[in-house]
Order: sequence, then structure tokens, then C-alpha cells
Amino acid sequence: MKDGQKTLYSAVQPTNNLTIGNYIGAIKNWVSLQDDYNCYFAIANMHAITVRQNPAELRQKTLSLLALYIACGVDPEKCVLYVQSHVPEHAELCWVLNTFTYVGEMERMTQFKDKSARHADNINMGLMDYPVLMAADILLYQADIVPVGLDQRQHLEISRDIAQRFNNVYTPTFTVPEGLYMKVGAKINDLLNPDKKMSKSAENPNGSIFLSDDKDTVIRKFKRAVTDSGSEIKYDPENKPGVSNLLSIYSVFTGKTVAEAEKDFTGKGYGDFKLAVGEAVADKLVPLQAEQAKLLADKEYLNGVLLSGAETAHKTAARTLSKVYKKIGFYQI
Ligand code: TYM
Repeated sequence: MKDGQKTLYSAVQPTNNLTIGNYIGAIKNWVSLQDDYNCYFAIANMHAITVRQNPAELRQKTLSLLALYIACGVDPEKCVLYVQSHVPEHAELCWVLNTFTYVGEMERMTQFKDKSARHADNINMGLMDYPVLMAADILLYQADIVPVGLDQRQHLEISRDIAQRFNNVYTPTFTVPEGLYMKVGAKINDLLNPDKKMSKSAENPNGSIFLSDDKDTVIRKFKRAVTDSGSEIKYDPENKPGVSNLLSIYSVFTGKTVAEAEKDFTGKGYGDFKLAVGEAVADKLVPLQAEQAKLLADKEYLNGVLLSGAETAHKTAARTLSKVYKKIGFYQI
């Protein structure tokens, strides 16, 4: 922990296969911020069970996500990496915050409405309570900033509302967190349907690039990506959503600005462009996958990271929860 530094919090659910949207919108930014903040990065397995999971797969994906965090460059020596269910304060604070959240607000959440439509046979209370658990995650650590993709903005806003509501009823208790959304890549879109976000659970897997895709698959998917009418390779999300999405991806994976990316393709056709984007992505994914596999072979090391992460996280979380219990009048021994 670094004294005097602000706190940063974020998490990913260990569900399905992660896409380059998760990497660009979240994990990649964590790496560039880890030296400047006290960072907590969780594996949100309690959020994951709001949709039915296969238990063996959930266990395996939990460890695999930890290995991915580290393979992407998130340093366990600098950051607290832990599994959400290892720190019981998340569920405990969630319960308290439930009493500061209105049913109507939760019913209006876009993700709740989307997931309810997709899982109509299992619209469980957890699915509806999902944003409150997310608020508990963030507020337990008194996070100042939360780097996430734009799809999480509504959840972040409700976390701020809940924090403010609690602070107003009692005395200031929670830091009110700010969302951090990157200029390029806060919303990576589906390759076949560039008006929709790229998703882990997309119906057609050809529209998503999974971090586990091999080089041939990556190239094949980019070759099939939808482009727009006209032939110019220009960043114009309104009129050229397909091309603009590909330019964002290229820019992030090559470290170039969008303007530099556009220059790389002046006078070139869509075919060359799509191949170049595919190659830029595959060149990064292949070593990332090798590193993740190497880490996964050392379960003892990964377990050690999680044990120490849970211990540190628990200390901070317990401090906040105790403050909250005191304020609301829970008798403590
Ligand atoms: P999850 O697992 O759905 O996604 C993880 C992160 O990836 C971002 N993301 C994207 N960014 C850009 N383009 C995309 N197409 C794209 N798809 C996903 C998400 O915005 C997110 O940052 N509820 C969260 C996990 C969570 C959390 C938290 C996050 C639980 N507690 C506390 C922050 C703070 C989620 O489901 O992320």
C-alpha cells in the first residue's frame, strides 16, 4: 500500500470467455494506473452466480481470470488481487445498502432489463440486486476512482447515489467514487453488429474476439468484420461505426493515436485494413495466452496471491463495515 495515494477499485466477472472489450475497456487500463493508485482488483464470482453457472467451470474460470490479470501486467506485488467471495464483508455491506436502495431504481437498470429478457426463466433477486452488490464492492474500499467500460456507467452512478444517500442520513462515511472511462475503447463494439457492444455472451461468437482465440481465428473474424459504405478509412463513429470500431481496436493494440492509425491506412482498401487490425490483435494475444498458461500451471503461486489478497482486502473492508455498523446502530461487542 502506498501512503497518500488515492484508491482505485475494479472487478471482472469470471464468466464465459473474456473479449478484447474487457481487456481494452478495463484490464489494460488497470496496468497503466497501478503505479499511481492503491489498487484493488476483484474477481466478481458473487456477481457471476446471478446467472446460473456450472460449478466446476466457475472454479476453473476464477483461477484462469487471476492468471489473465497477471499475464496482462497487473502486478500482485503492487495491487490487491482477490476473489469477492473470500471477503464476506461484500455480502454484509450489500445487505445494509439494500435498505438505502429503492426497488423502482433497480427495475429501471438497463442491464437488469436486458438480462431479464435473456434469462426469462431465472429472474432472481440477485440479478436485480446486482448493482447494490457492486456499490458494496466499491464503497467498502473507499475507492476514489473506478475504471470501467461505458456499459457499467449506470451501475457506477447508482453506487454514487447510494453512497451520498447514506452519507446524508448519517455523517460522511463513504468516499463518493468517480467512474473513469477511457477516451478510446470505453465501448468496443461487436464486429458483425457495430451498433452493439462486444459481449462475452453474444449470440454469434464471430462478432467477438475472445482473449483465448488463436491467431487464425482472430484473423478470420476480422476479415469478416462489417465495414461501412464508402471506402475511406476514417474515424467517424456516427456514420462509419464499423470502421471506427476497428480503428479504435487497432489504435489500442498498437499504442498509436487514432489519427496515426488513420494515416497508416490512407489510400488502402478495407481488405488490407482488416487484415492489419487482425494481425495487431493476434500479435498481442498470442504471448498473453502463453503467459496465462504458464501461470496456470503454478497453482500454488496463484493460491498464494489470492490468500494474501483476501487478507489485505478483508482488513480494509472490515474497517469500513465496522464504521457502517456503528452508524446504523448495530450493537458491537
Ligand atoms: P464485466 O465482467 O461484464 O466486464 C468487465 C469490464 O469490461 C468492460 N467491458 C467493456 N469495455 C469496453 N467495451 C466492451 N465491449 C466491454 N465489455 C465489457 C466492463 O465495463 C467492465 O469494466 N459488474 C462488473 C464487474 C464488477 C465491478 C465491480 C466493476 C463487479 N463489481 C465493482 C467495477 C467495480 C461486470 O460485470 O463487468
